[in-house]
Amino acid sequence: VYPHVSKMPTINISIASPGHRYGVHIESGLFGRLPSILYRSAARRTVWLVTDSNVLRLYGRSLQHGLTVAGMDVTVVEISPGEGSKSWKTAHALHTQMLRHGVDRKSLVIALGGGVVGDVAGFVAATLLRGIDVIQVPTTLLAQVDSSTGGKVGINHPLGKNLVGAFHHPSAVYIDPELLRTLPAREFRSGLAEVIKTAAALDRRFFAHLTRIVPRLNRTNDAALAPVITRAVRLKAAVVEHDERETDFRKVLNLGHTIGHAVEAASGFQLRHGEAVAIGLAAEARIAARMGILSLRDAGHLASVLSSAGLPTRIPRSIKAAAVLRGLSVDKKSDRGTPRFVMLRRPADCLIGVAVPTAFLAEELARR
Ligand SMILES: NC(=O)c1ccc[n+]([C@@H]2O[C@H](COP(=O)([O-])OP(=O)(O)OC[C@H]3O[C@@H](n4cnc5c(N)ncnc54)[C@H](O)[C@@H]3O)[C@@H](O)[C@H]2O)c1
Ligand SMILES: [Zn+2]
Repeated sequence: VYPHVSKMPTINISIASPGHRYGVHIESGLFGRLPSILYRSAARRTVWLVTDSNVLRLYGRSLQHGLTVAGMDVTVVEISPGEGSKSWKTAHALHTQMLRHGVDRKSLVIALGGGVVGDVAGFVAATLLRGIDVIQVPTTLLAQVDSSTGGKVGINHPLGKNLVGAFHHPSAVYIDPELLRTLPAREFRSGLAEVIKTAAALDRRFFAHLTRIVPRLNRTNDAALAPVITRAVRLKAAVVEHDERETDFRKVLNLGHTIGHAVEAASGFQLRHGEAVAIGLAAEARIAARMGILSLRDAGHLASVLSSAGLPTRIPRSIKAAAVLRGLSVDKKSDRGTPRFVMLRRPADCLIGVAVPTAFLAEELARR
């Protein structure tokens, strides 16, 4: 339904379940052309532009203006920035606002923002009227390389991250690396953690390449960034195509996330998602090394790549061990309360569903 846009690398993702197919379009400067692209495909549909207040100010108003000038009926739905918005309360408020203002089955949600906006707007689109279309326009590195593709949407529950959600694929994803120029440095580094995760889990050559270029990557260098984003999206797309519902292989993308999610929640969301993932990657690699699964050399190498990206690799001492252990037991990946891990054997070679004896977890938590 959404037209192929010329002159940009388009990754076509086809998901096996009921014939869903969508394009992920990546190109510097693409954002400015979105009104005409969307007008061609969705002129008569009412549009709900969901974004957070930071992104609204930077990009949302101009997109709203562009779509309105193109003749489309657009309503802006604004949420507060931050992980706190991935909540039942925010999702409910969005449902209410959209129902009051005449959302219908043909309405289109545009999720313009980082992973928080993508997850909550996607969840609202998945659940309203049993599902309406959503287009993802990711504006953080993390959302561009990871969360906007793959169809996982959801909100947090007080008992843990991402515990309430759905699979709801976007109709299209539009990625413009230029939007990253305004991203705070800390958010940029957080996105690099997911890039390093994807490479470590799936692609030895890309991982070796990243090792060399990570220190030089920055927000303003679109020329260097675009191929990195494209590679990461292609890898994720290949995994999702193979295993849309995460019955098996897709779990490799959870590398670093068992400890990562627990640490993120235990920090009271003071850590950025990518920072928590970096800590999780390094901590899980150290545990894998102690269990004899990964070499000490590879574990050290992964930690040094993360450090060279400016990311943390140790669980901060301020985080209580008991809070991390509690988080581990409610993790989605746990099996009757026993956390399960994706463990690296070597770059691009993972074991899935590994149970880690408590002694190894206790040792990692003690050594800080
Ligand atoms: N669904 C998935 O498959 C998936 C995968 C990975 C992560 N996630 C989720 O993504 C979330 C994290 O996403 P995130 O790191 O993008 O955080 P975020 O959405 O909170 O964005 C980070 C901050 O950057 C601001 N911002 C966004 N774009 C900007 C820009 N271009 N310029 C300046 N500021 C900008 C936002 O307002 C926010 O303050 C977590 O909740 C995580 O669980 C989901
Ligand atoms: Zn993640």
